Amino acid sequence: MGKVIEKKIEILVENLEKGMSITCFLDVPQIFKKMDDVTISFLKRINFKKIKIRRFSKTLDILAKDLMPYDEVLEFYPLNPPLVINNQKTIDVFLQYGFKKITALVTETVSNTNGRSLTIVMEETKANLNRIKDNIDNSRKIIDKGYEVLSDMFEQKQISEKHITGAKELARDMVVNISKNSQASMVLSILKDHDEYTFRHCVDVANQVIIVCNFMGDKSEKHLQIISMGGLLHDIGKSMIPKEIINKPGPLSDDEWAIMKKHPTYSAEILSRQGVDDIAIDIAHFHHVKKNGKGYPQKAFSEISDLAKLTAISDVFQALVTKRPYKMTDPPNIALSKIRQWASDDFDERLVDLFIKSFGVYPIGSVVLLNDKRIAFVVGRGDETTRPLVAVVVDENRKFVRNSDFVDLSNPEFNELKIVKPLDHRKIFKEKAAELFMRLELH
Ligand SMILES: [Fe+2]
Ligand SMILES: [Fe+2]
Repeated sequence: MGKVIEKKIEILVENLEKGMSITCFLDVPQIFKKMDDVTISFLKRINFKKIKIRRFSKTLDILAKDLMPYDEVLEFYPLNPPLVINNQKTIDVFLQYGFKKITALVTETVSNTNGRSLTIVMEETKANLNRIKDNIDNSRKIIDKGYEVLSDMFEQKQISEKHITGAKELARDMVVNISKNSQASMVLSILKDHDEYTFRHCVDVANQVIIVCNFMGDKSEKHLQIISMGGLLHDIGKSMIPKEIINKPGPLSDDEWAIMKKHPTYSAEILSRQGVDDIAIDIAHFHHVKKNGKGYPQKAFSEISDLAKLTAISDVFQALVTKRPYKMTDPPNIALSKIRQWASDDFDERLVDLFIKSFGVYPIGSVVLLNDKRIAFVVGRGDETTRPLVAVVVDENRKFVRNSDFVDLSNPEFNELKIVKPLDHRKIFKEKAAELFMRLELH
């Protein structure tokens, strides 16, 4: 039993299929920057009622039939009526001309409870995945640059103005990138594969905290940059702690702990000497204060800022999901459930809830084992929090699959399937998880 619905979705031209209709072209390929007769005749063939163009420095809305050589197309208005795709050739022609993004009208028989058929959900997921993939490279570049800037900083005995300027630039790049596509940064932080180093930890904490703040609706770039600075430099005081203590593989002695516990105070001292914003200093100073008073330095939990409390949560989360010489890693949602457990002693429970909500139960990029023995990446949230959208990457015989089966676990069609447990991506894919995620093809 189902009813037919029509839905407008934003997708890439390469994901167009027969039977869909194009309602609007969302980008203007390079070839239309300067009209010639061939491109004019192509545009006339498609039923463009209105096109925004530039002609001799004037901006005009015209019909395709009125195009002239040397006009520059600025924007396409919606097609009326929509253009029905009858064959693959039409799709190929659009691809050849360089169109990338469109809105398409999809007619579907609704089969699931919330009115979204599998095809619609899959198209939306494909479009979202493509947006994430497009942004992952940029996010990776910024994070790698962050590792470079901070590793150099942690090597120095004296933190200079140059280092602070570098960190500020980095904080700005991170914020701009996350406001563009926070999911890409999230996927990278979920699928990280490196061992623990303080400088990496700092970049990851900063990244996580601004993802959460962005999720919570803090859209002020200036504010987010200051928060990011706090995250990036929260452990900078460790540069003052002897290397033997920082790098000691086993547990620390009482004396060593006493020295280690000074690092947040050192961080605050360094940052205030450099004239860094008070909000960032506060984050650095109090990121190890606990609700039960067992943290350090001694300070009433009620007196520290929400941002320092949030950084404390992110600090512990990053420690749990990162490999260290003496411990295995936790998959993200195991780490989140540990944080939930510890919240009554250590954290602000309201902020823990927000932190967990920003991930969802199964964050995009996490790896799960299904009850039919297949292994899948989570690729979207879906309609039910505990039954996300997944893409199968390893079949029941432990073989990698090239074209991933797309499964919407909230769709009744997949009632039999369920997630048995989350898996550590490093155990399954070694250090290749992010690369595999980038190569996902859903079908
Ligand atoms: Fe710390
Ligand atoms: Fe830390």
